[in-house]
Amino acid sequence: MLKEMLASRNLPALKPRDEMLGILQREVYGFLPPKPDDISFTQEKDIIRRFCAGKANCDRITVNCRVDGREFSFPILATIPNDRTKGKYPLFIHINFRPDNPDRYMPTEEIIDNGFALISLCYEDVTSDDGDFTNGLAGILFPDGKRPADGAGKIAMWAWAAQRALDYAETLGDTIDLDRVCVCGHSRLGKTALFTAATDPRFAFAYSNGAGCSGAAIQRGKTGETVADIVDRFPFWFCENYYKYANNEDKMPFDQHYLIASIAPRRVFVGSAEEDAWADPLSEFLSSVAASPAFEKGIVCPDRVPETGDRFPEGDVGWQIRPGVHYFSRLDWQRLIEFIKLHS
Ligand code: GCU
Repeated sequence: MLKEMLASRNLPALKPRDEMLGILQREVYGFLPPKPDDISFTQEKDIIRRFCAGKANCDRITVNCRVDGREFSFPILATIPNDRTKGKYPLFIHINFRPDNPDRYMPTEEIIDNGFALISLCYEDVTSDDGDFTNGLAGILFPDGKRPADGAGKIAMWAWAAQRALDYAETLGDTIDLDRVCVCGHSRLGKTALFTAATDPRFAFAYSNGAGCSGAAIQRGKTGETVADIVDRFPFWFCENYYKYANNEDKMPFDQHYLIASIAPRRVFVGSAEEDAWADPLSEFLSSVAASPAFEKGIVCPDRVPETGDRFPEGDVGWQIRPGVHYFSRLDWQRLIEFIKLHS
């Protein structure tokens, strides 16, 4: 049944990872900004000691980068369990909407209690979520205000910043298990999390929650948001080359299963919510199925249309759908944690 459903979507065949990534960068997100020429980290004074009932410290770190000879910095929050007898901690890098910790999309204490460390960053500390390309990282990359047609959009810039958060984690020595780092985010930041992992093989896991259009969901045959909708309201998330696919999805030499497949052979978990029709859970699921051949162990699921409450964590690419609306909920985190523990 799934085979026929996929056939009706007419998806382009998977290609080698480098080719898929090249297409996605050139045609959708723009090329990832260059690695910094230089990077350093400043520990700020406003550390919260004995956070989470004393189980963790929360440090505010300033990430200082030199990019193309220009200085750029942004803050991250590192919440690291105190108990040094437990070995190395797997790590979440959460690209968040807000600088809060905890946050309504980030149940910090519960994450710590599950044996994880957590680094979070607020996306607008990197560059604003709008068409202004003069501030933050955007202003550093395009100082003359001219962005080429394949120049980084805002998603690529937020992804680049999440990669710098991993650079910081690499300085933490034996505290962090660098073989178990997961980048995650919700909605526009779920799109960003997938692109972050696709372009940086240091991430062992990626999780996108409600990422939908131009994220986890295949566009061909998608319901809810279309390419035309998204480039009309949020053109700045993408490179200009993407705009020509508005109402023209059949001409795309790719579909979003390329994004998931570009993370192989590492692991990806995709989260959907029953009432998130704008993201289109079925197209997120079919995307995970279509990307599966790129992985050693593709999605493990029955050959039927999924039902609310289904979760398929066993393959290297997994998918789940919970009841409720577009939101990064505690249940999503619990299922993500379960996915990582299962594959550890
Ligand atoms: C809008 C947009 C979506 C996006 C969402 C979000 O709804 O159309 O593509 O995922 O915002 O980021 O919250």
